[in-house]
Amino acid sequence: MDSVDSRESRRGTSSGSSFWDYAYEVGITPWDVGYPPTELVSLVESGFLRPCRSLDVGCGTGSLVIYLAEKGFDAYGLDISRVAIDKALEKAVSRGVSPNFYVADFTNVGEVIGLDLGEFELVTDVGCFHSIRPGLDRVKYRDSLNHVLRVGGYFLLWCFEKGNYNWGPPGVGANEVESIFGSSYDVVVKRSSSISSRRMFFYILVRSK
Ligand SMILES: C[S@@+](CC[C@H](N)C(=O)[O-])C[C@H]1O[C@@H](n2cnc3c(N)ncnc32)[C@H](O)[C@@H]1O
Repeated sequence: MDSVDSRESRRGTSSGSSFWDYAYEVGITPWDVGYPPTELVSLVESGFLRPCRSLDVGCGTGSLVIYLAEKGFDAYGLDISRVAIDKALEKAVSRGVSPNFYVADFTNVGEVIGLDLGEFELVTDVGCFHSIRPGLDRVKYRDSLNHVLRVGGYFLLWCFEKGNYNWGPPGVGANEVESIFGSSYDVVVKRSSSISSRRMFFYILVRSK
């Protein structure tokens, strides 16, 4: 399959993106801060994460993907929102890098397989998994992750803790990540992240099988 550069993105068959497209169209995107999470920057700057094939799931307008591309990673981003990916493409061009962007629904395993992305050594997710409807869709997300992340690869996850909030995404239960991913991933880091005012966890998982 041909590679796709930042002037074009590959489209999957996703539907159900209307909420996200609307948010990006009208600019109600408080999460879109324009820079990657501090934890990621520390891991890259310290040399813990070295340039490799990386995929950001739910990449939005591409800040994390563009940062990794600037650091020499073979960086990919995927999002269900065509509007977000169009903005990511524009931003990448203005920053002089050419990461690969895809429009697809990560809870649709068949669609992810059809993209023929190959294997990644690093997968990141800042705020996508915690937005996905609890239950079967989160299991399907895990199945897509298993399709793209190689054994021994890192999965970095930032997600809101579930709580009594009357706004925003559902978040994740106290041990939900461990229970969904635990059979084939080791949780090597789980701590609070300060990148949001709402209580948020930062996880590093390593795929064990
Ligand atoms: C809270 S935003 C975070 C965006 C980006 N990671 C950031 O930090 O700016 C969640 C993102 O996940 C995307 N998303 C939601 N459900 C998705 C799905 N099933 N597959 C792929 N992307 C999805 C949304 O379009 C949105 O861009």
